[in-house]
Amino acid sequence: MPTMKAIAVHPHVPNSMHVRDVPEPSIESVPDGRGVLVEVLRVGVDGTDRDILAGLYGAPPPGADFLVAGHENLGRVLAVGPNVPGRIRPGALVVTTVRRPGTSPYDQIGMQDMTTDRVYYERGINLLHGYMSERYVDDAAYMVLLPESLAETGCLLEPVTVAEKGIRQAFEIQRRLRIWRPRRACVLGAGSIGLIAALLLRLRGVDVVVYSRRPRPYLNSDLAEALGAVYLSSSATTLAQAAADQGPFDLMFEATGYSPMVFEAAANLGTDGVLVVASVTGGNTMATIPADRINQGFVLGNKVMVGTVNAALEDFEQGVADMISAEAFHPGWLARLLTTRIVGLDAYQELADHLLNDKAAIKTFVEVKSQA
Ligand code: BGC
Ligand code: ZN
Repeated sequence: MPTMKAIAVHPHVPNSMHVRDVPEPSIESVPDGRGVLVEVLRVGVDGTDRDILAGLYGAPPPGADFLVAGHENLGRVLAVGPNVPGRIRPGALVVTTVRRPGTSPYDQIGMQDMTTDRVYYERGINLLHGYMSERYVDDAAYMVLLPESLAETGCLLEPVTVAEKGIRQAFEIQRRLRIWRPRRACVLGAGSIGLIAALLLRLRGVDVVVYSRRPRPYLNSDLAEALGAVYLSSSATTLAQAAADQGPFDLMFEATGYSPMVFEAAANLGTDGVLVVASVTGGNTMATIPADRINQGFVLGNKVMVGTVNAALEDFEQGVADMISAEAFHPGWLARLLTTRIVGLDAYQELADHLLNDKAAIKTFVEVKSQA
């Protein structure tokens, strides 16, 4: 049986990242001739991968004791099955979505990001192998095409979609207000998701404050300011002060990874505002909160808080459009997020080290195959 190389982990075994030979994927494994064979170019990593590597999250496919890592993919089509739509052809640059349908009514209409199933299937995260291998096969229905202008930065599309979905939820919910147009937003957290959320809001003409722990200047605050956002550090300004000076905030997007910030954000949301919470926090942090004040503010101010996870195909399509306009309005900005390049699947130890210890990296990614 032909094999290829992959970076894998043993979920729930801390620090188990390794390189291994896995079976070469076959186009025929996808039903109805919709299989696409893709050569992997770049795969990014994030906090989810860190939690998996730390043994806190994730599961291997049934019957396997390892999980091929990686969900933030970018690749080039090598071959297509007989029923793949004409736009996907060998040579095309593609990104494939992460979550696959289960059984709930949402899954059945392509909204598996909203599944009510207890079990969810996510490539590189839960029960399905990921993309950190030389090649992969998937159904053309889960793939989006990228223009060549995104050949360097396309591995950022998946994290872009996470912010896209959260912002889409906010706009969808705020249709209740008939004429809602957010003027001022606050993004909490200046990591990759926070910075991308700031980008998407700036592209929509919203004034943005990025509020994070570290004092400016450093790369992340420079990137926020390059978008025309205001960067404020929690070491210099309380969120209440930021809201008084720069608010009221019509939209807040929480991406710090520190759950008590959710309640601090809730306490400082503007009237009729919406708070999007996007941090996956696996811990057991307890917090004391001004419960009456937050509750009363929500009741008397008609406020909303919404959780968001994963993304739908439409978020991938919107993400491509927004990455193209990001290149037009902020040339080179997306590439500056790609701080840390790991060359080749054999460098898995270097990848693991950066994932666990490199606090300065914005986006670490594996260059599986160079395009030079
Ligand atoms: C991924 C999402 C996924 C979530 C929860 C995130 O890192 O980007 O696609 O739904 O983790 O597993
Ligand atoms: Zn992710």
